[in-house]
Amino acid sequence: MRKKVTKAIFPVAGLGTRFLPATKSVPKEIMTLVDRPLIQYAIDEARAAGIKEFIFVTSRGKGALEDYFDHSPVLEQELRKKGKTDLLEALKDTNMESGAIAYIRQHKALGLGHAVWCARRLIANEPFAVILPDDVIAADKPCLQQMVEAYEEIGSGNMVAAMEVAPEKTSSYGVLDVSEDMGSMVRVKGMVEKPVASEAPSNLAVIGRYILSPNVLGNLNKIKSGAGGEIQLTDAIAAEIAQENAVYGYRFKGTRFDCGSKSGFLQATVSFGLAREELRDDLRAYLHDVVAMDKAAE
Ligand code: G1P
Repeated sequence: MRKKVTKAIFPVAGLGTRFLPATKSVPKEIMTLVDRPLIQYAIDEARAAGIKEFIFVTSRGKGALEDYFDHSPVLEQELRKKGKTDLLEALKDTNMESGAIAYIRQHKALGLGHAVWCARRLIANEPFAVILPDDVIAADKPCLQQMVEAYEEIGSGNMVAAMEVAPEKTSSYGVLDVSEDMGSMVRVKGMVEKPVASEAPSNLAVIGRYILSPNVLGNLNKIKSGAGGEIQLTDAIAAEIAQENAVYGYRFKGTRFDCGSKSGFLQATVSFGLAREELRDDLRAYLHDVVAMDKAAE
């Protein structure tokens, strides 16, 4: 029988050094686009895809994430007393059903593959999703939901979100070697983590959404460190191909923002701001003026 995808791993142990000094005391996943932290977008997307169990792989200094997904009785009482029902409503998405969220520590920064492996005992023998909260995807139908629907049609194997990137950018991504291109989906015959452009098998890059067979956790037991001296998730997925287990790339519909970079984060802020009805007019007028002033100053 086909198994539904109900568990997702959120690797959130990274130090976020690209955002220092902010990330000295704030986990990067708590940084906000408008008024929602990055992690909230990831959780919303997982919920829309039918995920019921949320597994966070954390590290020292990430306590704010646990507080964020906890009830805050004093705050809630205060808002209720003041009749702030809209704000109470806004808090609802931060509430988790008891037992639906688990936190596991990654004791050493050994790479994304190692972070996922840390959650192995909570996955058991079923397919699971991985969401990297740095990759924020704006889409009519949330990206993971698109993938779960496509995955349920196939019924087994592994699926990674994929997007064409500029050839000179392949060294920032896992890159797919495609054996068959079916349009929105490709069949993959190889995967390379962060290849330089001259060694990249294509410019179709992996974006931070995965649906993986539990077999990948077994592969993580065996693989050695790869690119950058880290245990790479890409290598454990590539090992599936050698075992004749299918790997698909899924070209999602939507706009991806690299919120692990300052420029991507700023672009996402503007884009999500413009998407808010109550902010749109002011923000648009401001952007218009600021661009005109910038041009005039050239
Ligand atoms: C990770 C993965 C990489 C993937 C990327 C997507 O890299 O290792 O394969 O393409 O996420 O954002 P990171 O950005 O953590 O270096």
